[in-house]
Amino acid sequence: MANQIRGRFQKEAAKTAQDYSSSIHYDWRLYPYDIAGSMAHAKMLAKQGIITMAEGKAIVEALAEIGEEISEGKFEFKPELEDIHINIEARLIEKIGDAGKKLHTARSRNDQVALDIRLFTRDAIIHTIGEIVELQTILVELASNHKTTIIPGYTHMQKAQPILLAHHFLAYFEMLGRDIERLDSCLTRVDVMPLGSGALAGVAYNIDRKFVADELGFKEISRNSLDAVADRDFIIEFEADASLCMMHLSRLAEEIVLWSSGEFDFIEIDDAYTTGSSIMPQKKNPDMAELARGKTGRVYGNLMGLLTTMKGLPLAYNRDMQEDKEGFFDTVDTLISTLEVFTGMLKSVRIKTDKTTGAAQMGYLLATDLADYLVSKGVSFRAAHEATGKLVTYAIKKGKSLKDLTLPEYRKFAPEFAQDVYEITVESSVTARNNTGGTAYKQVAKQIAAARRKLKDFECDCDDEH
Ligand code: ARG
Repeated sequence: MANQIRGRFQKEAAKTAQDYSSSIHYDWRLYPYDIAGSMAHAKMLAKQGIITMAEGKAIVEALAEIGEEISEGKFEFKPELEDIHINIEARLIEKIGDAGKKLHTARSRNDQVALDIRLFTRDAIIHTIGEIVELQTILVELASNHKTTIIPGYTHMQKAQPILLAHHFLAYFEMLGRDIERLDSCLTRVDVMPLGSGALAGVAYNIDRKFVADELGFKEISRNSLDAVADRDFIIEFEADASLCMMHLSRLAEEIVLWSSGEFDFIEIDDAYTTGSSIMPQKKNPDMAELARGKTGRVYGNLMGLLTTMKGLPLAYNRDMQEDKEGFFDTVDTLISTLEVFTGMLKSVRIKTDKTTGAAQMGYLLATDLADYLVSKGVSFRAAHEATGKLVTYAIKKGKSLKDLTLPEYRKFAPEFAQDVYEITVESSVTARNNTGGTAYKQVAKQIAAARRKLKDFECDCDDEH
């Protein structure tokens, strides 16, 4: 079939040009949104008397059938019809003839695609937030199962101070919480209805934009037609938010890689989330975590790509903007699948508490507590820091752990050391860090309760929506 928008031309487009400009192989997935948008538009045209009620009804019914044809795999997508918008419109005309030709009254593909992609983004955000909440739920479960498990905390990837494993998991809960806040904020800017902007200047019909917005559940209507068809900020925002979220997942991935290594041996990843080596039979590789780390690079690339595409574009719509979709879809799919895989992987991870506790006993993690001990005996912190530093150097030389040193050995470095120095343990160290945000048992229990309340609120919000 000839493309219905080539009236001005005397020739068909060159095959290479058609292939170059066709986007149907990826924008087909906008079809539910394109159909919903067209239904709302047709209803509005009929209500306003721009088309007849009978025409409006015929259009809406045929669009519903087209939606079914597509979802059942019976629809033939034609690359020569460029994109999803023209493919659906051509099928509509094929089905109902002249009435179908009236659907595009008071509309341009420029405001149509802006609408479709906003509807798509709205769903993508809601879906992504749902997946983040699932992962947060598992993190809180792990935290509550490990309220007393101690691990070494690290700075510079060197053993630093003992912390609760629950505290570590809850750090990721916080990061993901910020990701949700950012996506939620992005949603407010997505929630703006652009239809009625026409190609760029608005349309010369007595349309009812508020009606279309209400039909499609939009909170606001765009205020400037040029901006509305030229704006892809919300996609860039999503991609930036997704990049941050992937960065968080990638950091978690790195810890999973380290923790599952023979050197750390803190966790065992379930067989369902590991892969073997084609040559080394002993290997059980943390591929999911590695892939997440790798895919993060691609998600950043999509963000950079679209920022670069948009940076020199004059107002209003330019065809360059068709390049917004592939990277965006890829980012949405990558983020959602990474969240799903992480939820499953963490649900089934085995934590080797004997190993984590053992690791926390080694490596002089209590040195800060020894300095704090001296401070409690009246020594200044700087002097205490120096004395403890020397003590640790001495212990390392002797090949002894802190608790193996005798009291006379301790006293060589500070006369304030007394018998009660042996009461310093990883547990006492954790207990002592009892300020808001600290790793103390009490604080972590509070944080688990607060996290649970937050998750409950999400459940309630979802119930309200359905
Ligand atoms: N496929 C196009 C896109 O994604 C739809 C808008 C086309 N508009 C136009 N004036 N050619 O951007």
